[in-house]
Amino acid sequence: MMYMKIPWSIPNIQQEDKDALQRVIDSEWYSMGKEVKNFEDKTSSYLNIKYAVGVNNGTAALDVALKCVGIGQGDEVIIPALTYIATGNAVLYNGGIPVFVDVDDTLTIDTSLIEEKITDKTKAIINIDLGGNVSNYYELLRISKKYDIPLIVDGAQSFGSEYHGVKCCTHGLVNMTSFHAAKILTTIEGGMVFTNDQELYLKARAIRNQGESSKYIHSYLGNNYRMMDLIAAIGSPQLNRFEETLNQRRAKVAYYKEHLKNVEYPKEIPNTINCYFFFLILVNNRDKLNSYLNENGIETRIAYPMPINEQPVFRSFSKETFAMAKKISESVISLPIYYKLTRKEQDYIIKIINKFGGGFL
Ligand SMILES: Cc1ncc(COP(=O)(O)O)c(C=O)c1O
Repeated sequence: MMYMKIPWSIPNIQQEDKDALQRVIDSEWYSMGKEVKNFEDKTSSYLNIKYAVGVNNGTAALDVALKCVGIGQGDEVIIPALTYIATGNAVLYNGGIPVFVDVDDTLTIDTSLIEEKITDKTKAIINIDLGGNVSNYYELLRISKKYDIPLIVDGAQSFGSEYHGVKCCTHGLVNMTSFHAAKILTTIEGGMVFTNDQELYLKARAIRNQGESSKYIHSYLGNNYRMMDLIAAIGSPQLNRFEETLNQRRAKVAYYKEHLKNVEYPKEIPNTINCYFFFLILVNNRDKLNSYLNENGIETRIAYPMPINEQPVFRSFSKETFAMAKKISESVISLPIYYKLTRKEQDYIIKIINKFGGGFL
């Protein structure tokens, strides 16, 4: 079998994105200005949500979201046990205490386990749609309403996903996404906060710019989280072709699923659309297969190698073992699924996995 070198991801930057960047360079206005506003407007109308606030990365967007709902010292914030580190970090930046809840076979929060973790100190629930696979928003919103605890959506991985015809990154009181280089829609670094609440929108705008509510009047503790016009300009043309990008991605997922043998996939709940930020397979002898893929030139990601409460920075918050998060972290591999991945390369990846043989499950 011939040898190929296949990266895990390549950002989808086309000539029209480069032209947009050049146009902003030529305009001599590079920081937060009309390009950011244009990208915000386009994104909020794509998501069908009232307000959008562009920031310099997804982590900043999460911090803004938590500050918007007023998370402070000693407040408990429920997060899934399987997520990227940034979800938990944002809680710590605000003096909050992360409270972990195991995931289910969708790899997202097990909503049947949330209520037992709620106390009178619980001040928010942060949900993430891992890899773009959509969570049970019906239950999340029911719980949020019942206990009057705001839902914050960390939609860093689910821009393009849908739940019952409603776009993800919109179900929470405050929501955010990331436009990092690995994301399907990328400004290389970038993020955005979304809400339908005007008051929170104004607060988010202030927090992104040193908490400034009117010129040199700082009503909140904010930060410099401003998005640049330069990067916003790259995002706009990508949004124009986003549906096409998602369709191409889905075709690649369908092809993988048609040909891969002896692997399992995260369960998807009915009436949802997964944007497939990650294309994940679940296998028994993960480390061996992963090494085999890497030895054969195929770059992969292990997303994520352990439940977040087992990460050194979070260990002091919980000694619990989250059985499902643990099992997934031991069996998951994220395969290449970027726009440029050719049929030939996909065939090669499939061949390597199928050649490795059964015995996964
Ligand atoms: C779930 C989740 N939250 C937050 C972030 C942070 O986004 P950024 O890397 O843009 O800061 C990421 C990044 O991948 C993420 O996956």
